[in-house]
Amino acid sequence: MLAAMITSFGGPHVFALDEVHEPVPGPDAAVVDVTLAGVNYADVARRRGVYEKPELPAILGADVVGHLRSDGRRVAALLRTGGGYAQVAAPLRRYAVDVPPGVTDEQALAVLEQGLTAWHCLQTLGRVGGDDLVVVTAGAGGVGHLAVQLARWAGARVVALASSESKRAYAVELGAHAAVDSNHPDLGTAVRQALGEAPTLVLDGVGGRTFEQLRAALAPFGRVVTYGEGGSGAVVAVEDLMTASTGVLGFRLQRVLDDEELYRSGAARLFHLAGRGLLRARIGGRYPLTAVSRAHADLESRRTSGKLVIDVRKLH
Ligand SMILES: NC(=O)c1ccc[n+]([C@@H]2O[C@H](COP(=O)([O-])OP(=O)(O)OC[C@H]3O[C@@H](n4cnc5c(N)ncnc54)[C@H](OP(=O)(O)O)[C@@H]3O)[C@@H](O)[C@H]2O)c1
Repeated sequence: MLAAMITSFGGPHVFALDEVHEPVPGPDAAVVDVTLAGVNYADVARRRGVYEKPELPAILGADVVGHLRSDGRRVAALLRTGGGYAQVAAPLRRYAVDVPPGVTDEQALAVLEQGLTAWHCLQTLGRVGGDDLVVVTAGAGGVGHLAVQLARWAGARVVALASSESKRAYAVELGAHAAVDSNHPDLGTAVRQALGEAPTLVLDGVGGRTFEQLRAALAPFGRVVTYGEGGSGAVVAVEDLMTASTGVLGFRLQRVLDDEELYRSGAARLFHLAGRGLLRARIGGRYPLTAVSRAHADLESRRTSGKLVIDVRKLH
């Protein structure tokens, strides 16, 4: 089979197309003939060797859609140890979920990893409600464009952050009441102005100063749910939380994957919403298997919105 491999860590250029053996599935794994593979921001960190450092040579890629070799069923699957940027993948059977007929391959891929993240950050941890004033960081991105819609669906008032005029317009088109430049030097003031009040719930996938400024801007009893890799370096003093009477919650998708029923019911719910057009999944870029480098460069340079997919059967 053909795969986009990395043999060293570094910039987007490290991918090279190679002919390699198909993966040999373990007893709990399935063989999937892949149609599309997803690109996730975490793959950028893995490619740089700064997150879940993979053993080299490696095939990155954490989500695929395709057909089970055993019976031809169309499934979407998450891959916890990579292997997505290839024509054949071997996900654990419990992570392969049937895609219903009304849902396209693109929609299934867009709402699985990123949709589960958006859902659990908003609902399970954030306990979003109609009275909430919500900030969604990277509001036009893979997780963010779904979170904006799900927050609106819950009846909340929503402000999205995004770095360009067109991304901000897109977030508003999705239902955000307002959009703020993510490069604004004082995000706290900017979101308070946009909402008319202090936010009660922040979804942060960016970290760093974005996390710090938005946490400081929270209304009393507000909470921030942090899920991006950039948030991991932040240190929060418990004393500060008590003084402000705010909360910081953290999310990792692995905790959902540890519970098969939670994972499958969540996937079914998201497919249901996508299939009925209630959750609009956007494909922000479609690339042949020979252009994984370009997909990574586009994602990293903040040019993209929505979900990026690799068509592994296309070579040009
Ligand atoms: N915890 C979990 O289990 C879990 C699961 C899935 C995803 N995630 C995390 O969720 C976040 C979003 O993932 P995604 O795949 O949906 O990516 P994405 O949102 O499509 O892309 C990342 C976005 O982050 C924004 N950004 C802010 N600062 C940036 C910087 N210095 N460099 C590049 N981009 C920057 C950009 O939006 P603007 O240009 O508009 O600011 C960019 O489009 C990532 O941090 C990812 O690791 C976590």
